[in-house]
Amino acid sequence: MTRDPLVEQARAAALSAYAPYSKFSVGCAIESVDGEIVLGANMENACYRLGICAEISALTAARQAFGLDKVARIAVAGGHVGADGALAGAAPVTPCGGCRQAIYEAADLSGIDVEVISANGDGTETVTSTIRQLLPHGFGPASLKDAG
Ligand code: THU
Repeated sequence: MTRDPLVEQARAAALSAYAPYSKFSVGCAIESVDGEIVLGANMENACYRLGICAEISALTAARQAFGLDKVARIAVAGGHVGADGALAGAAPVTPCGGCRQAIYEAADLSGIDVEVISANGDGTETVTSTIRQLLPHGFGPASLKDAG
């Protein structure tokens, strides 16, 4: 089992996902530079393309709680909810491309190369990267400096 409490909070948040279509529950926990933590989970829709990812859900909560420029660490975990009511799954869940872009925005604002911990549903495997590793040569607020 993982010992990082942020991963355990992401796994717990996944239990509040609304994912009746994919049956793939994702949770996200975001820690601020001051140690404050907010949570999010994916929320799907009968109009499939309107579903939102756990990371976006948690980033909006982070914006409300402490601001995007204070985001320091992000844990993501996903899989299915097992018969015992716990999140389960073998493969670590890395943020999708759109979520990487949203995390990059926060990282660009603060200058912090945000740490992203991707965990499997079982909580036994993690892959740790920074957002600049996940999205090299990204486009962010600083890329607009030549705008009129
Ligand atoms: N999902 C996330 O919440 N985060 C990711 O980074 C990958 C995918 C969700 C979207 C959808 O509700 C389900 O997982 C299956 O793709």
